[in-house]
Amino acid sequence: MENSSIVILDFGGQYTQLIARRIREQRVFSVVLPCTATPAEIRAHRPAGLILSGGPSSVYEPEAPAADPALLAMDLPILGICYGLQFIVHHLGGKVRPAPRREYGRAEVAVTAEGAGGPLFAGMPSTFTAWMSHGDEALELPPGFQRIAGTPQAVAAISDPSRAIWAVQFHPEVRHTDLGSQLLGNFLFSICRARPDWTPEHFIQTTVSRIAAQVGDGRAICALSGGVDSSVAAVLVARAIGDRLTCVFVNNGVLRKNEFLQVQRNLRDRLGLRLAGVDAGRRFLTRLGGVVDPEAKRKIIGNEFIAVFEEEARRIAAESPGGGVDWLVQGTLYPDVIESTSVKGPSQTIKSHHNVGGLPEKMNLKLIEPLRDLFKDEVRRIGRDLGMPEEILERQPFPGPGLAVRILGEVTQERVTLLQEADEIVVQEVKAAGLYRKIWQSFAVLLPVKSVGVMGDQRTYAYTCAIRAVHSDDGMTADWADLPGPLLRKISSRIVNEIHGINRVVYDITSKPPGTIEWE
Ligand code: XMP
Repeated sequence: MENSSIVILDFGGQYTQLIARRIREQRVFSVVLPCTATPAEIRAHRPAGLILSGGPSSVYEPEAPAADPALLAMDLPILGICYGLQFIVHHLGGKVRPAPRREYGRAEVAVTAEGAGGPLFAGMPSTFTAWMSHGDEALELPPGFQRIAGTPQAVAAISDPSRAIWAVQFHPEVRHTDLGSQLLGNFLFSICRARPDWTPEHFIQTTVSRIAAQVGDGRAICALSGGVDSSVAAVLVARAIGDRLTCVFVNNGVLRKNEFLQVQRNLRDRLGLRLAGVDAGRRFLTRLGGVVDPEAKRKIIGNEFIAVFEEEARRIAAESPGGGVDWLVQGTLYPDVIESTSVKGPSQTIKSHHNVGGLPEKMNLKLIEPLRDLFKDEVRRIGRDLGMPEEILERQPFPGPGLAVRILGEVTQERVTLLQEADEIVVQEVKAAGLYRKIWQSFAVLLPVKSVGVMGDQRTYAYTCAIRAVHSDDGMTADWADLPGPLLRKISSRIVNEIHGINRVVYDITSKPPGTIEWE
C-alpha cells in the first residue's frame, strides 16, 4: 500500500466520496481529507497522487475554503476536478471569473491537439459527453498551462505536464460522463503510477486496527437491526475488540415471522457476536394499543426503543468488569451522511432513524461508524469478505418501525400475526421466482378493510392484503415493479388459502413520488 494511495482533498463537493469510490473500484486505496490538510498531513498518507475535489464556493471569494496553495508544489501528480481546476488556476497565476452562462448537465467535450497525445485522455475518443456543474470558469490559464479540452462554452481541461498538474472542469466520477472511469484510471496508472492492489481485505485490516487503537481497552455497544449495515459494522468492531463489544437486538413486537430468533442465530451462533436479545414485544404492543396515526406509531416505537436500549446498556455497563461502556457502534453509510463534514466541521447530520435518538449525548457515548465512507454495495462486498452469510448481506431494507408501518390502523397482536404470515409468503415466493435480489423491496401490507368473499360454500368477511414491490436505487425514488402474473397469482392464492383472516389480495401500482414506499 506504501506510496500507492491517492489523497482526495474535500472542498465540499457533493461528489467527493463518489471520487473515492471510483478509485476504490480500480483497486487503489484512497483517503478523503479536509481541504485544510497541511502538506505534512497529506504526506503522512504517502500518496502517489493528489485529487482536488469539486465544491460549491468560488475561489475568488473571501469565504472560499482555506486550503494552503503550498499543496500545489508538493511534487506530487495532481488532478483538479471542477472547483479543483479553479483552485489551481487561481493560485498559480491565472484568472477565474463567473461564467457568462452557467454550464449544468451534459456537455460535449472536445480534446484539443495539445491534449490528444497526452496521458490523461489516452485511449479516449476526441469528443465525448461529460457532466458539468459549474458557475465559474477559467478565463486565463496560469503560465505553463495549456488547454487540453474544451466545450463550446468553456475550458474543459488543462495541464502543465512539467509539474504533473492536470485538471478537468467536468466530473469524471459521475456515470453521466462517458469513460470517466477510464480518465480516472489514466490519472491513477499512467500519471501517478499507482498500483491496483487495494482490496476489501485492506479496508478490513486498516479499519480493524484503527478501531482497536481508538477503543483501547474500552467497551462498546451496538444496536443491531438484523440488516446489512448494522451487522457488518458490528462484525468489524468485534474483530477489533472481541467480546468487549456487546450487541443489543430488541424484539419490538413488529418484527417479521421468526426474525427475533433467526437474527440471534445468525449473529450469535454463526458469527460469534456477543449478543443480548431483549424480548420487549409485549411492552411495545401495549404502548401501541389504540394508536392509529402513523407518526404517533413511529414516535412511540422510537421512544420505546431508546428506553429499552438504555436500560439494556446500563445493565451491560453494570455487569462489565471495570464498569462502563464508552462507545456506541452505528452502521451509518455515506448516503446517510447528508452534509459534507470535512469542510463544515463535525456538524454531522444523519438521518434520524440511524442516529439512536440522541442516545450518544444522553449516555455520554462516543460514536464508532466504520462504514461512514462506504456505499451499500461496498458494504455488502466487505461483509462477504468477513465471511458473513448471504442471508444477511442480501436482505432487502426493512424499516425500523417494522410491520407497524405496514399495518394500517391499530397495531394488534392479531394483525401482526396475520401480516407476519402474509409477509413470509411474499418473501418465499419472490425468492422462489429468483427476483428477491433484483427488487429493492417486496412486501405485504395489511389494510383494516374487511370485504366479503366465498370459500367453499362459506361466506367470509375478512381483511384485505396489499402487495407492494418496487425497484429503486436508494429508496429516495421508486418505480412499482411489474411482477410476473403467475407469481402474483401464486402469492394471492397462498395468502387467501393459508391465512385465516385475509380473503382479498390487491396489488399496489403506485410509484414514488407521488406515493411513498411504505404505506405509513
Ligand atoms: P418511504 O416509505 O419513505 O421509505 O418511501 C423509503 C425507504 O426508507 C425505509 N424506511 C425506513 N427505514 N426507519 C428505517 O430504518 C424508518 O422509520 C423508515 N421509514 C421508511 C423504507 O423501507 C424504504 O426503504
